[in-house]
Amino acid sequence: MTPDERQGALDSIAAEVRGCNACRLHETRTLAVPGEGNPETEVVFVGEGPGFNEDRQGRPFVGAAGAFLTELLGTVGWNRSDVFITNVVKCRPPENRDPEPDEIAACAPHLRRQLSVIDPALVVTLGRHSLGTFLPGARIGQVHGTARPAESGLLPPESTVFAMYHPAAALHQGALRRTLLDDMTAVPVALRDARERRTATAPAAAATAAAAPATVPAPPSVPGSDPDPAADQLTLFA
Ligand code: URA
Repeated sequence: MTPDERQGALDSIAAEVRGCNACRLHETRTLAVPGEGNPETEVVFVGEGPGFNEDRQGRPFVGAAGAFLTELLGTVGWNRSDVFITNVVKCRPPENRDPEPDEIAACAPHLRRQLSVIDPALVVTLGRHSLGTFLPGARIGQVHGTARPAESGLLPPESTVFAMYHPAAALHQGALRRTLLDDMTAVPVALRDARERRTATAPAAAATAAAAPATVPAPPSVPGSDPDPAADQLTLFA
């Protein structure tokens, strides 16, 4: 798929999301929030569902949690425009309640199609509802900061899922801010591993990917770090 074709496919999914009435959330939304970012990226961040600001603007993660997500990306040298950002449900649950399982199920075809167009090596889940969508049964307190093979029909099994707490959790529970910052440092390494895993499990597709230029920039170097294998990982995307 060419970059134009990929952008066109994402635009048409977004148009369908804006007109979607597959679940009750369409009744109370202001604007649906399809998601946004770089169609050529290797990394997709998946949150829970739009909040107040996102519902007004039709864009994901534009409120306080979004500011922290942007900050987290910045700590590894990435911008929002380097990745794709979306949610498991595309319309705001009233009063920011948790999305219901039937709402997540009704919205899943949109997410599945977005992921199939982008074909990311790595999906970063933000919060337990996103985690449960990709790794059913996993517990966020146990798996945050770690990567594992995708286990749901939303992604091919050669894709990798990296679990993080939701950025909003740090706004309510200050200690989680440090946890999120620490977990974020492992994301570029998880991407490198995810690329290697794809090469091993799907050689033809991965050979094409390996020949393509990296789609996320090199993370910043760590001042004072030793020239050891970890340092090598940090310059992988130069
Ligand atoms: N929280 C989410 O899960 N998604 C958004 O887009 C904003 C806040």
